[in-house]
Amino acid sequence: MPTKAKSPHLPFGDQRTAPWYGKDILSVKQFSRADLEYIFGVAHEMRNMVDRIGTFDLLKGKILANLFYEPSTRTQSSFMAAMQRLGGAVIPISEVRYSSVAKGETLPDTVRTLGCYADVIVIRHPEVGSAAQAAEASSKPVINAGDGVGEHPTQALLDAFTIHEELARMDDLTVTMLGDLKYGRTVHSLSRLLSLYNARLHYVSPGILRMPPEIIAELEAKGIRQTEHTTLDKALPDTDVLYVTRVQKERFESEEVYDSVKASFVVDKKVMAGAKPNMIVMHPLPRVTEIATDVDDDPRAAYFRQMEYGLYVRMALLAMVLGKA
Ligand code: NCD
Repeated sequence: MPTKAKSPHLPFGDQRTAPWYGKDILSVKQFSRADLEYIFGVAHEMRNMVDRIGTFDLLKGKILANLFYEPSTRTQSSFMAAMQRLGGAVIPISEVRYSSVAKGETLPDTVRTLGCYADVIVIRHPEVGSAAQAAEASSKPVINAGDGVGEHPTQALLDAFTIHEELARMDDLTVTMLGDLKYGRTVHSLSRLLSLYNARLHYVSPGILRMPPEIIAELEAKGIRQTEHTTLDKALPDTDVLYVTRVQKERFESEEVYDSVKASFVVDKKVMAGAKPNMIVMHPLPRVTEIATDVDDDPRAAYFRQMEYGLYVRMALLAMVLGKA
């Protein structure tokens, strides 16, 4: 459930009754099943509105500051598109080397500054806990768009929405996470969210890139069945969702170690022949070599559709924290 509320301006009457009004979104631990149902409902409405009229004025007059200290294509542009489709405006800061960050400004001061101009701040930063630190300093709601190897809650919400839309259910699914489970923040957030739905989880990774033990322990305590593997063959046949991830090159201390694991797994047509006919393949993207392009036209390849679901979920989240949903 949402925690503390902040108070953006309320020019058109009091929207404080909206449950997520003024809230930060920092971790998936904030969300219950009921919250997810609510978000999926709002995301559905957003999809209908985009289909019918494209852009509309729900957040007209509102400003989003997009503060990205790490590279991003999808997260950054989908938050921008989300705000613009809702009639709002965006301050994009993606080249922090051209901002006062390059002069040595601290994260809290940069965030305080943006809070003077914007109604909501989306932040991506290489350090775990940076979004929480930003939220502490900010008078406006902060949305975590990835804090190092920590969490990526909005990605997990769009991943969950993708599963909900593609498979028409969330409960009792077998989800196989493949690739870099140590440094991949998307799997850290998604595994936690799936624990709300009694998922059975397979973790397939090279030995040095295993799912962090503290996440395994956290889910274990909730009674979630988890199995670790170093190859895909045993996990694949009963998999409903194959969630593939990139080996996170930028998190490795040595190029040599990265080279030793970078090509550990490749999902190609041959691999897909061993998967269920009604399963889906997901990937937060960008992909490097872990999914061969010959899988792209397989109807089970959901990773491009997944990006579109992300737009609707981010529209929903912006509307929620700004008191309009
Ligand atoms: C992911 C990320 O930044 O964690 N990308 C994304 O937001 N879609 C995954 C990745 O970079 O591999």
